[in-house]
Amino acid sequence: MVSTTLRGWLQEIENMGELQVIEGADWDLEIGGLSEKNIRRHNAPALFFKKIKDYPGEYGIVTCSLTSPGRFAHTFHLPVRDTWRDLLEIVREKYRTWQKGLDEYAPVEVKDGEVMENVSSGENVNLYEFPAPRWHELDGGRYIGTGCSIITRDPDTKEINLGTYRTMLHDKNTVGLHVTPGRHARNQYEKYYLKGEKAPVAICLGQHPLLFASSASEVPHEPRSEYHFAGAVRGEPVKVIREEITGLLVPAEAEIVIAGWSPPGKVRKEGPFGEFTGYYSGAEDTPQPFINIERVYYRSNPIMVGVPPNRPPDERSHFMDLIRAARLYNDLIAAGVPDVKGVWFSDVGRQLLLVISIKQRYAGHARQALLASCLGYTFGRYIMVVDEDIDPSNTDEVLWALCTRTDPARDIDILREMRSIALDPVVPKPVDSPFTSRALINACKPYEWKDRFPGAIKMSRELEEKTRQKWGKTLNL
Ligand SMILES: Cc1cc2nc3c(=O)[nH]c(=O)nc-3n(C[C@H](O)[C@H](O)[C@H](O)COP(=O)(O)O)c2cc1C
Repeated sequence: MVSTTLRGWLQEIENMGELQVIEGADWDLEIGGLSEKNIRRHNAPALFFKKIKDYPGEYGIVTCSLTSPGRFAHTFHLPVRDTWRDLLEIVREKYRTWQKGLDEYAPVEVKDGEVMENVSSGENVNLYEFPAPRWHELDGGRYIGTGCSIITRDPDTKEINLGTYRTMLHDKNTVGLHVTPGRHARNQYEKYYLKGEKAPVAICLGQHPLLFASSASEVPHEPRSEYHFAGAVRGEPVKVIREEITGLLVPAEAEIVIAGWSPPGKVRKEGPFGEFTGYYSGAEDTPQPFINIERVYYRSNPIMVGVPPNRPPDERSHFMDLIRAARLYNDLIAAGVPDVKGVWFSDVGRQLLLVISIKQRYAGHARQALLASCLGYTFGRYIMVVDEDIDPSNTDEVLWALCTRTDPARDIDILREMRSIALDPVVPKPVDSPFTSRALINACKPYEWKDRFPGAIKMSRELEEKTRQKWGKTLNL
């Protein structure tokens, strides 16, 4: 049984031996620095910061929540596996079930919940009460929301969206927004602005990691929300409360929810912020919309969830890319690409390097896979297709295929003016229209003579076994 609250989840992963408590760290750079150092460790646990400098001892921040395949599997109600790669097939299968369950697990409205334990309104709102970290040295301020769920509503259809978008702390009752064009929240709040109206926004700053991960994943669900998705994964609807000021549905079991309005036509300087690309790749101090916070709800001794970006692979890389890969895998099959054997976003390149393995069936199969993978794929640069003997999650094997099975003039096609994002490091700043080109690389053996392609050096199973038996002790095999 997996708990539905962050506190219950913390207890569960402590029982799994995957939680480390750290007391006495400073919100200013230390929590960020320790979190980054932690993810570079093998089998990094989640970190639970308590007794944070300047704050009451029991106020907490959790980071690195989903950095292990075990914690991810537990959180998503999946069988636990040792590696991310081992979870791909499982997530792929489950994804179909989750999608089918969206309607069955609509959120249920309740009148009360843990988050209502303390309420501050109007002049009493003081966001400095919470230990918002300054994550990296060159950040332009403290970021209260990184592992957050931002809740918005479409003014016309009334659809609700939850997305994870960074939230800068401007002052005691104002936070900044930074949402990429095309994201659901932005589509929704810009509709209010176009009507000259203020947009309602609520931000959940501490919630169960399943709800966070659902907000951070590009789940195609409209008209259903990420609440439906989290409910379908859990097999139990998410409990929500109708927030009094904005009328938005907010998680009843959350640790902290802040709510208010984003005025039309007004902006404040936001950033710079160390991005998920591993760079300060946004324009410096770009003016962005903001939210005037009018209400704060929080549990006593609240616990925030922080997910600071770092040079990849970072805290978000594995779980986001696993879900993305599973989805794309299903989409490729639905698009009629046969014999897909694996899909993987590079641990380091992330969305910028996608590798698909196929068993080549016919001339043109490899390019069909390359082109099909471009559909709905928002930010990418290199897409490679490899033969089924190459494990797409193994960088050494992928590079070996690239170097030995491609002839660049024949095997690389460039698509120009493809979709990118303002945070793309190669897009010059300031930017209005971010484009990137995309390289489609066919790193399969040339189809027309693949059967005559030089055989790969490979030990047979029998020889391997014989060698192990005879020499295993000598070489510790
Ligand atoms: C920790 C974290 C921070 C993120 N920050 C932002 C951000 O500041 N702006 C943004 O547009 N997307 C950001 N994303 C990506 C979005 O959360 C993700 O694309 C999500 O699917 C968007 O939801 P939507 O499809 O409902 O718009 C972030 C993701 C994570 C995991």
